[in-house]
Amino acid sequence: MLNEESAIELTRFIHKTYLIRGRFKKDDMKAEDIELVKKSWKLIEQMDKVAVGGIFYRKLFQLAPEVKPLFVNISIEEQATKLVTMLTYIIENVDQLHVIITDVKRLAQRHVHYGVKPAHYLSVGEALLWTLNNAFGKYWNDDFQSAWAAVYEELAAAMITAAEEDVALQ
Ligand code: HEM
Repeated sequence: MLNEESAIELTRFIHKTYLIRGRFKKDDMKAEDIELVKKSWKLIEQMDKVAVGGIFYRKLFQLAPEVKPLFVNISIEEQATKLVTMLTYIIENVDQLHVIITDVKRLAQRHVHYGVKPAHYLSVGEALLWTLNNAFGKYWNDDFQSAWAAVYEELAAAMITAAEEDVALQ
C-alpha cells in the first residue's frame, strides 16, 4: 500500500508532468519519438560526457537545490559518466522496456535508498531536456522536445512505479 505522503507526491508529479507535457504533445511515445530520441542520443554520446553532465547537474541543482546533498558521496564527473552510460543502455532498449525492466526496477529501487523522491523525476526530466536543448543549440526544435518528453515520461513512470513497490514492501 502507498502511504499518503507518497501518494500525494505521485499525484502531484503526474499532474505536473501532464501539464508540462500538454504544452508539447498529447499522445504517447510513438515509433518516430523513439527513433528521434535514439538518433539524437547517439550525437550526445559523441560529446564530452563530463562537460554535458556538468551542464545537466548545474541545471538540476538550480531547479531543485534540495537534491544537491544527495550527491555528496560522489564526484559530478563520476556521476555524469554513470548517468550517461545507464541512459545509453536504457535508450537502446526503450522500445522494449519489458526486456530491461528488471534492471530499471533495480535502478529505481537503489534510488529510493539514495533518498530520491517521485517529485525529483520531474526536475531531472526538466534538467535533461534543458541540457539536450543546450547541446543541440539551434538544431533543437519542438519535435525533439516532444519526443524526449514522451520517452522520459515513460522511463520516469516505470522507475516511479518500481520505487513505490519498493517502498510498499518495506
Ligand atoms: C532517468 C532516470 C535516472 C537514471 C537513468 C539514473 C541513473 C543513475 C545511475 C546509473 C546511478 C549510479 C548508481 C546506480 O546505478 O545505482 C545513479 C545514482 C544516483 N542518482 Fe540517478 N538516475 C535517474 C534519476 C535520478 C533522480 C530523479 C534523482 C534525484 C535527484 C537521482 C539521483 C541520484 C543519486 C543521489 C545517486 C547516487 C549518487 C552516489 O553514488 O552517491 N537520479 N543514477
